[in-house]
Amino acid sequence: MTSEPSKKNSRLPVYVVLAILLVVTAAFIVIFISATQSELQLQGEATAELTEDPYAERVAALLEGADASRGALLVEQYGCTACHREGAVNKIAPPFTGIADIAGSRRPPLSAASYIYESTLHPTAFVVEGFLPVMAVDYPERLSDQDLGDVIAYLLTPDAH
Ligand code: HEC
Repeated sequence: MTSEPSKKNSRLPVYVVLAILLVVTAAFIVIFISATQSELQLQGEATAELTEDPYAERVAALLEGADASRGALLVEQYGCTACHREGAVNKIAPPFTGIADIAGSRRPPLSAASYIYESTLHPTAFVVEGFLPVMAVDYPERLSDQDLGDVIAYLLTPDAH
């Protein structure tokens, strides 16, 4: 009986240490979650709501002389498919497969063509859920009107991948 108190005393610190570890871990989890949430909020704020399609006229002009059959090669040449393909490293970007079907509902009221136009030239205007805004923003300088039109026309076909 006399040895019991000393046993208790020697065990107490272990529980104290465990309790401290638990509190510290919980604190880290809370900090991590709130940091992630504020990051998501920032992304949400960066997305400007649209009440009309501001690109419609320009996109129509680009598509008028566009040649969709050049697009597959262009998205290779401009490096788009380094990120936009099935099996890309860390699933860095959504693959182009099926984009013609989803582009029109990603960001109302943008049409599929206007959405692809905006996503290519101003990738941070709207960031697809589940992805980070890592796409280069210098495509406006790099893409000629012809190439841009061809890429948009190609991505509007069911063959895009
Ligand atoms: C460094 C990787 C990278 C490259 C290169 C890249 N993109 Fe992207 N792109 C992304 C990421 C990541 C997203 C999703 C996040 C966002 O919306 O910004 C995206 C989004 C898009 C979207 C919207 C896709 C969807 O499913 O809604 C389109 C369209 C697009 N990019 C077109 C292009 C075109 C065209 C090129 C080449 C001229 C290109 N991208 C080059 C990373 C890239």
